[in-house]
Amino acid sequence: MEYSEKVMDHFMNPRNVGEIENASGVGQVGNMKCGDIMKVYLQIEDGKIVDAKFKTFGCGAAVATSSMATELVKGKSIQEALEVTNKAVMEALDGLPPVKVHCSCLAEEALRAALWDYAQKNNIVIDGLEPPVNDVDERHHQAE
Ligand code: FES
Repeated sequence: MEYSEKVMDHFMNPRNVGEIENASGVGQVGNMKCGDIMKVYLQIEDGKIVDAKFKTFGCGAAVATSSMATELVKGKSIQEALEVTNKAVMEALDGLPPVKVHCSCLAEEALRAALWDYAQKNNIVIDGLEPPVNDVDERHHQAE
């Protein structure tokens, strides 16, 4: 299996690992098939994502995609953050092998779950954001 240099870099030196205390939004998702779990923390101020961190119990591609996803959303507005899809994360990493596409779906869903949590806590509706699913495969089965 071939991984791009960027994937290897984000796996070996993941950015934004950790937790944010009293985060504005926290999202945790899992994939039942591989058993991987990803947790994303967002700090949101004035509608902007000022910080993002993650903890991932999972494969190398799951670590690399969480690292890239958190990098991509930092400094973005909530609407812009919704454009950080699994495809956007994969592109930023110069691609993933086909069997690892689902790892990037986990990153997208963890991000969205954190935004959902933020919306719930603040009683707001984020256009285009659907509630999190328990098993990421439910929403992304065509992605594999
Ligand atoms: Fe499941 Fe990577 S193998 S997230």
